[in-house]
Amino acid sequence: TLPSKVRIFEVGARDGLQNEKQMVPADIKVELIERLVDAGITAIETGSFVSPKWVPQMADTTDVMAKLSRQENVTYAVLTPNMKGYEGAIAAKADEIEIFSAASEAFNQKNINCTIAESLERFEPVTEAAKAAGIPYRASISCALGCPFEGDVAVDVVADVSKKLYDMGAYEVSIADTIGVGTPIRTKKVIEAVANVIPLEVIGVHFHDTYGQALANYLAALEMGISRFDSSVAGLGGCPYAPGATGNVATEDVVYMLDGMGVESGIDLKKLVKTAWFISNFLGRPPVSSVARALKNK
Ligand code: HMG
Ligand code: MG
Repeated sequence: TLPSKVRIFEVGARDGLQNEKQMVPADIKVELIERLVDAGITAIETGSFVSPKWVPQMADTTDVMAKLSRQENVTYAVLTPNMKGYEGAIAAKADEIEIFSAASEAFNQKNINCTIAESLERFEPVTEAAKAAGIPYRASISCALGCPFEGDVAVDVVADVSKKLYDMGAYEVSIADTIGVGTPIRTKKVIEAVANVIPLEVIGVHFHDTYGQALANYLAALEMGISRFDSSVAGLGGCPYAPGATGNVATEDVVYMLDGMGVESGIDLKKLVKTAWFISNFLGRPPVSSVARALKNK
């Protein structure tokens, strides 16, 4: 049976905008985030505290966080690669943080300049500090369905890294298809392998739509009882360190599917579509989302 409701974790302002060539001013990011919250998003990534030399698009996260009018029922989350990032997150009063590793050594090196084992070690002090401060954290595993450098990734590796991150206290372990190569049966196999070692309730999915498979894969995950979905308004996004990666599945496409299936997301599709057009107009191109195009003037 399908879950009756799902939690959508909106990543457009981080995963989306980190990949734009054009720098998006903090005020536009703030308006984007506030519009998303007004549309009913209750968990949102506002940026990341990573090296500004690596990802200059996120260098203004402190400013964005300071300018936001925050709503009480909303979780404003940031991505942190190390202790320095954690300190930035705390100073900016982030509600929660995200730690991240990968199921591919080659990708992890390119993305955060260390091995998978080293990244887990680097996150030890971060998770210890977060625990002590009462800051919840989720964890993400890149390249869980394939790697731009290594190709196929063994499900056992995904399960192993998932277990380690869960044992470090992550409240959610998000399986990321960074380059969008997964298909539904493969998705089910990976989730099955991960669910053998950690509770199904904590497993989340974060799929990019590079090959147009993300929605099909979300349905496969939903049918297995997964209820934690990452998505990105207007289908913005990609990863600067994953060649060829395009955006995440569009939030409006996910919400349209859930609405049609009677699964609650708490999100107002019309407001969401308006927001997709708001950011797309700023970026000077239409949203990639079919739903945003279909509902443009409705
Ligand atoms: P490094 O060069 O190995 O680190 O980078 P370092 O510790 O030697 O530091 C180098 C410089 O960066 C130093 O400055 C540090 O102070 C500074 P310098 O002395 O040269 O002036 N630095 C920082 N500055 C700000 N904030 C920090 C920070 N840490 C160090 N937190 C590092 C290692 C991890 C820093 C680097 O590789 C990095 O920032 N990588 C982030 C890459 C990134 O953001 N990728 C995209 C996000 S992940 C993603 O999109 C995937 C996901 O969506 C899931 C999926 O789809 O797969 C989550
Ligand atoms: Mg991503």
